Amino acid sequence: MSWHHKHLLDIESLSADEITTVLDTAKAFKAVGTRAIKKVPALRGKTVVNLFVEPSTRTRISFELAEQRLSADIINFSAEASSFKKGETLKDTARNLEALNADMIVMRHSASGAAHFLARFLHASVINAGDGAHEHPTQALLDTFTVREKKGKVAGLNVTILGDILYSRVARSNIWALTKLGANVTLCGPSTLVPKVFEQMGCRVTHDVEEAIRDADIINLLRIQHERQRKTMFPSIGEYTSFFGLTKARMARTKPDALIMHPGPINRGVEIDSEIADCSRSVILDQVTNGLAVRMAVLFLLNGGKAQEIAG
Ligand code: CP
Repeated sequence: MSWHHKHLLDIESLSADEITTVLDTAKAFKAVGTRAIKKVPALRGKTVVNLFVEPSTRTRISFELAEQRLSADIINFSAEASSFKKGETLKDTARNLEALNADMIVMRHSASGAAHFLARFLHASVINAGDGAHEHPTQALLDTFTVREKKGKVAGLNVTILGDILYSRVARSNIWALTKLGANVTLCGPSTLVPKVFEQMGCRVTHDVEEAIRDADIINLLRIQHERQRKTMFPSIGEYTSFFGLTKARMARTKPDALIMHPGPINRGVEIDSEIADCSRSVILDQVTNGLAVRMAVLFLLNGGKAQEIAG
C-alpha cells in the first residue's frame, strides 16, 4: 500500500507501486459495486466540485457517480453558465470555489498545465480530468485496470497505441502508466502525428500499421483530435482510414486474443470499423464501467483512505 499524494495531476510523477495501489483499491471498489447497497460513507461531509471547462461525457459522469457512491456533496460547475463568460479568471473562479469550502476540485481544461496551475495555490486537492494535450491520468488508470483485469497482468504485454498520439493526453498518460508497469508500448500512426521523439518516453515508434498490430496483445485506438490540430496533419479522413484505421481486414491479421480498446468518443468508420467497436474482443464499454471504480479509488485515496478500510 503506497499513496502519499494530495493531488492527482499526472501519471508521470507516480511510481509503479502507487499506480498498483490505485488499481488494487479500484478492484475493491468494483466489488462494492456488485452489492445491493453500492454507497459507502467515505467522503461524507466533503465537498467535491466538478469544474469542466471543456466538454466531456464519460469522465464527467463517471466522476459524478463516483462522488455520489462515496457520499460526497457535489457541485457541478458549468463553464457556459458561469462568470467565465464575464471574464473571470480561472484562478479567481477556483479561489471562489475554495471559499465555499470545496475539499476537492476535479478539473478538465483545454490548457496543458491547468491542473498543476490550480494545485500551486489551492489548499483543496486537485484532480486532473484532462488538461489539453498533456495528461488524462484517470483514463490511463482505468485503461491499465482493464488490461490487468482482462489479461491478468500488465508486465510483458505488447500494447499498441494507434492514432493521433501527438495531440493525445490519453496517449501520454497511458505511455507513462504502461511502461512503469513493464508493458512493451508501440506507438503507430502518420509520421506527422507520431514523431520519433516519443521514443524518449520508453516506447517504440513505427509508421507501419501491419507491423504494429501483428504481435499486439492490446490495440488501443485513438481518435483524430480535430479540436487540437492547428492544421490538417494528413490528406483526408478517407486516407487516414485506409492507411491506419482498424478495418476488418486488418483485424483478421491480429492475434486471436488481442483486445481492442478506445477511450471514446469513437469516430466509427474512421479509426475503427463500426462492427469491430461492438465485437466480443472490444472492451470499450468495460473501460467505461471500470472508470467508475478507478475514480472512486482516486477520490478515496486522496482523502486519506486506506484500501484495507474498504469492507470486502
Ligand atoms: N475518454 C474521455 O475522456 O471521454 P470524455 O471526453 O467523454 O470524458
